[in-house]
Amino acid sequence: MSNREVILTGDTPTGQLHLGHFVGSVRRRVELQDSHECFFLLANMHAFTTRASEPDEIRSDTLEIVRDYLAMGIDPDKSAIFLQSETPAIAELTFLFSMLLPFNRVMRNPTLKEEIKVKNLGENYSFGFPLYAVGQTADILAFRAHSVPVGEDQIPHIELTREVARRFNKLYCGIDENVEDDDPIMLEKGVFPIPKADVGKVGKLMGTDGVNKMSKSLGNVILITDTPKQVKKKMGKIFTGRQSPTDPGDGENALMQYVETFIPDPERAAELKDKYVRGDNIGDGHIKVEVAEAISEMLEPMQARREAVGNDATVIDIIKSGTARANAKTEETLAMAKDACGLQFFGRELGF
Ligand code: TRP
Repeated sequence: MSNREVILTGDTPTGQLHLGHFVGSVRRRVELQDSHECFFLLANMHAFTTRASEPDEIRSDTLEIVRDYLAMGIDPDKSAIFLQSETPAIAELTFLFSMLLPFNRVMRNPTLKEEIKVKNLGENYSFGFPLYAVGQTADILAFRAHSVPVGEDQIPHIELTREVARRFNKLYCGIDENVEDDDPIMLEKGVFPIPKADVGKVGKLMGTDGVNKMSKSLGNVILITDTPKQVKKKMGKIFTGRQSPTDPGDGENALMQYVETFIPDPERAAELKDKYVRGDNIGDGHIKVEVAEAISEMLEPMQARREAVGNDATVIDIIKSGTARANAKTEETLAMAKDACGLQFFGRELGF
């Protein structure tokens, strides 16, 4: 049981999940949950780093994500779905790790920079905002995770995590800096394995504007709960710039990405793409309808599962048991880390 590889990943509660989350990361998690020890994080503290004035929304967004996870096939008996805010070892490790990274290194993280731009944070972001990147290294390392299924945009965070792990193992476990990441010594002597990003086949799903990445803030998403009518309407908006069914189409555009991603029969997908790039009398509208139908067919069983989840109390029970499993794991890591850096004076007993 416990010698299975550990998977850790998660989502910041920003609203309901969409198809980009599904194909970019959640689908991969569902595949992994039989063979790996899986932990899925509800990053609600991270949500506070940009939305501290919206606690009620963060709370309901957190519960919505769990409903979406269950809809998409995550099984809470196999995988632990847990709450960041009730996993205190993560916060403690964040503090410790923040000392292992130069401030300027954190600020150079391209994902952080992009977020400052996209969310218009300017110079007014909180002190806690960039700290979330350090927090994310702790989210991962607290589980001594081997692999992190994520979309492409998260790669810089995983790179930062790898740096922290190497640094810690070098400073406090006596591992020479020339030791390779996957050298068995790293695991024998070090506290932290050096985790790998596991980017799925679709690292970045385009949005229904046909131009940008699918993202809630850009209003170009297809939600897991969208009806066939909504899906069809949104698909209709994908911009391709193509004029007529006999124009040779761009095989790399958003519409073709959807064909490859959502048409379940690979032969049919190849046929559609072939006709499209040759301009063999096939209209965008026709393809969009076919893709929309495929998406709705895929969503139908998810929506049925989502309906069956039950009330908030049921969802909270699921998070509670997942969080107990997360705490068992992360308290063990925290004790190992404290031991390594001379912070283990006596066992902790918080008697009230
Ligand atoms: N930053 C991720 C997002 O916004 C969420 C996240 C937080 C995460 N901690 C993580 C993802 C650890 C992977 C691993 O989607």
